[in-house]
Amino acid sequence: MLRHPELDSESVAVKMLNQVQHDLINEMNQTTTDITAKTNWAKIRADFPVLEQQMNGKPLVYLDNGASSQMPKSVSDRMDAYHKHEHANVHRGIHSLSQHATDAYESARTKVKELINAGSLEEIIYTTGTTDSINLVAQSYGRSNFKAGDEILVSEMEHHANIVPWQMIAEETGAALKVIPMNDKGELLMDEFHALLSDKTKMVAVVHVSNALGTINPVKEIIETAHQRDIPVLIDGAQAVPHSKVDVQALGADFYTFSAHKMCGPTGFGILYGKKKLLEAMPPYRGGGDMIDKVTFEKTTWNDLPHKFEAGTPPIAAGVGFSTAIDYLNEIGIEAIAEREHELLEYAAEKLNQIEKLTIVGTADKKASVISFLLDGIHPTDAGTILDQHGIAVRTGHHCAQPIMQHFDIPGTLRASISFYNNEEDIERLVEGIELVKKFFG
Ligand code: ALA
Repeated sequence: MLRHPELDSESVAVKMLNQVQHDLINEMNQTTTDITAKTNWAKIRADFPVLEQQMNGKPLVYLDNGASSQMPKSVSDRMDAYHKHEHANVHRGIHSLSQHATDAYESARTKVKELINAGSLEEIIYTTGTTDSINLVAQSYGRSNFKAGDEILVSEMEHHANIVPWQMIAEETGAALKVIPMNDKGELLMDEFHALLSDKTKMVAVVHVSNALGTINPVKEIIETAHQRDIPVLIDGAQAVPHSKVDVQALGADFYTFSAHKMCGPTGFGILYGKKKLLEAMPPYRGGGDMIDKVTFEKTTWNDLPHKFEAGTPPIAAGVGFSTAIDYLNEIGIEAIAEREHELLEYAAEKLNQIEKLTIVGTADKKASVISFLLDGIHPTDAGTILDQHGIAVRTGHHCAQPIMQHFDIPGTLRASISFYNNEEDIERLVEGIELVKKFFG
């Protein structure tokens, strides 16, 4: 376990106390999680109390997992237990409660490292989410490495979180933003990508799985190509890590970002993976407690990685909850999750394709569990409102990816984003709902 340098080595008594508390928590997690049959999807669905409720008089159909996934009871119970019995500030206290809170909070780092196969714990930076992670790299790496005339390469299918932070630092440093275009299926034009790379390119920042189209991008090829010119690559993995096995070392990504709340965890917590060599050379992004080594009025020196980038009291309960969320996903198995979601995606695509006057937006050959669509002559917001009246939650609008909508010259789409705890019945309810929308609008 990674310990904060401010903490002295543990005494035997502290170790024993920590062990007793750990055993109690493990026992509690086992009773609340209780997943015995890995492929018993009905049983897994029952782990999510939110899905049992009625919405507008109908059983809730939750198909907005791309925006935020739901939380299993084991995660909310774990956070509740932390708040009730274990809360103290982390990295600062000699007292047992603080040391235990530190261990519980730091356990997420070890699990994230294993989940994405990072090289070391120092490469796992806690942030408040993907947006924060990308801003960190743009402000820290960008400010110290970009200059006038440099280019930052993003793609046409980025979420605003992987556009705006780069625009902000580009404006500050005089660098320019360049854009890899896509075709009408929602696939990146790789020839154009190759042609856009030059000695001026100082960063490539690309989404792994598009939140609005579902496209799975060839990020390994993108990384390998950029690396031939020593250009670092940031991958926005917010929609990839929850749905597939990601190995950052196999990919070779320099930076990789994702959020806990799309992975059955809490909001306000996320990860920046960065290669140690790059992170070591980067200045801190925020100043304050915990990120320092020594402070005088003349000069301040920085703490070691990962704490150099983690100023102030962090969202401790969220980190503890995320640790349990990773356990939960691992118990089911990321491969099993990917398989089940693919099955549901195919089922949904087949059903939706049979509906007249419905057009799917984003038809890439390689797709994850997102279906964006339009209904002829019906504004997505109007359609979404009617669906909601029937208890069906989908996202409508531009999905924080306005350039995608500009590409297709549309105001937005309806988006059904599927998770492993959805089922065929949810898809059938969506289909029924769409028919009701069409009927309503004549
Ligand atoms: N990025 C989130 C989405 O796609 C909010 O809905």
